[in-house]
Amino acid sequence: MSSIPLPTPAELSITPRDRRFGRHTATPRLWHGGRVEATAIYNALSSTFPKGEAFFVESVRAFRDAAPPKLAEEIKGFTTQEAIHSREHDAFNKRAADAGYDLSKLEAQVEKRLAITRGKPPIVSLAATMALEHFTAILAHQLLANPRHLQGADKETADLWRWHAVEEIEHKGVAYDTWLYATRNWPRGKRWKVKAKVMLYVTRNFVVDRTAGSLELMRQDGVTGLRAWSRLLWYLWIRPGMFRKIAGAWLKFFLPGFHPWNEDDRHLLGAYAAIAAVTPEPKRKVRRAA
Ligand SMILES: [Fe+2]
Ligand SMILES: [Fe+2]
Repeated sequence: MSSIPLPTPAELSITPRDRRFGRHTATPRLWHGGRVEATAIYNALSSTFPKGEAFFVESVRAFRDAAPPKLAEEIKGFTTQEAIHSREHDAFNKRAADAGYDLSKLEAQVEKRLAITRGKPPIVSLAATMALEHFTAILAHQLLANPRHLQGADKETADLWRWHAVEEIEHKGVAYDTWLYATRNWPRGKRWKVKAKVMLYVTRNFVVDRTAGSLELMRQDGVTGLRAWSRLLWYLWIRPGMFRKIAGAWLKFFLPGFHPWNEDDRHLLGAYAAIAAVTPEPKRKVRRAA
């Protein structure tokens, strides 16, 4: 990586925390404070993770063998964390299904999107992963920085989301650094154009698909039409307003010299210590996914 100076903190360690959530406690159907729209948006997000994060793993792993040793090591940490996230969200989605939700439409939509990207060269999958990883990192930042987002949520489920958010922040530079390395011989203009185009494409799909998915789950709770739209849009854009609050961080992606670690938000990783303090770490050895 000698030719590209990267702001990823040199002493950053990407530590997979092999945790299991919700195995011994029942998850209420409306686990997010009894609110239909809040439960729907998080459930819609979770429905994308098992397949989506498996796609991230294969997209970044495809470039690992060519990567310099430090980056290759970070990729290993990244893929292991994402593999565990997939497992935990798969378990969470099963609990949502047990509570009566049908996630099949949402999962089919994820499959459809992934199939389109998989049909393109590996660098496109890496670019899509890099853009979506910025998205998850800024969502994670907001989730941890503002306690209002999980206010009233079932404790164990809120812990699952905080644990995931902590690791998303920790590995937020990996897909980006892999992309920088893989495109190191590209002219700057071409690199910017591709990354901007891909970001706009994945953002459009993200907003459209998550909105449609949330509305579908709200329909399953008997909330439809204008009432569903207004409650969902209020929740996403006004209060607590996750989408509005990440808009500035999203825009930074397009600035020259952008890098996920230009914003060092490692102070938010302390959220994990709070979770670990009440739920002790399992003793088993962490399985490496890569
Ligand atoms: Fe993840
Ligand atoms: Fe991630």
